[in-house]
Amino acid sequence: MSEFHTVCKVQELREGEGKTVAVGKKLVAVFLVEGNPFAIDDCCPHMGASLSGGYVESGIVTCPWHAWRFRVTDGTWADNPRIKIGCHSVRVVGDDVQVQLASPTAERTS
Ligand code: FES
Repeated sequence: MSEFHTVCKVQELREGEGKTVAVGKKLVAVFLVEGNPFAIDDCCPHMGASLSGGYVESGIVTCPWHAWRFRVTDGTWADNPRIKIGCHSVRVVGDDVQVQLASPTAERTS
């Protein structure tokens, strides 16, 4: 099990915007949804766009390149719920946002 890593301050996050952070060598997109932070892989499985640059509404980020949509709360592809991207545990300690990488980083559900 990996550890939690401090990635930014909670004040750096904005509702409706993603933020790319590095956890080791991995890029993660962190979002604030109704005051709670969530973290998913910052790499669209279609062609690799950064999801943190996507449009966010109602807890769903739309990829800025070709509009695939993912729930930021659990990484589910909104248009095909059998497929998920990596979703990582997040906690706030004081002002620090901390992320614990999940493994594996992408999965299919049956
Ligand atoms: S790269 Fe994300 S939808 Fe194409």
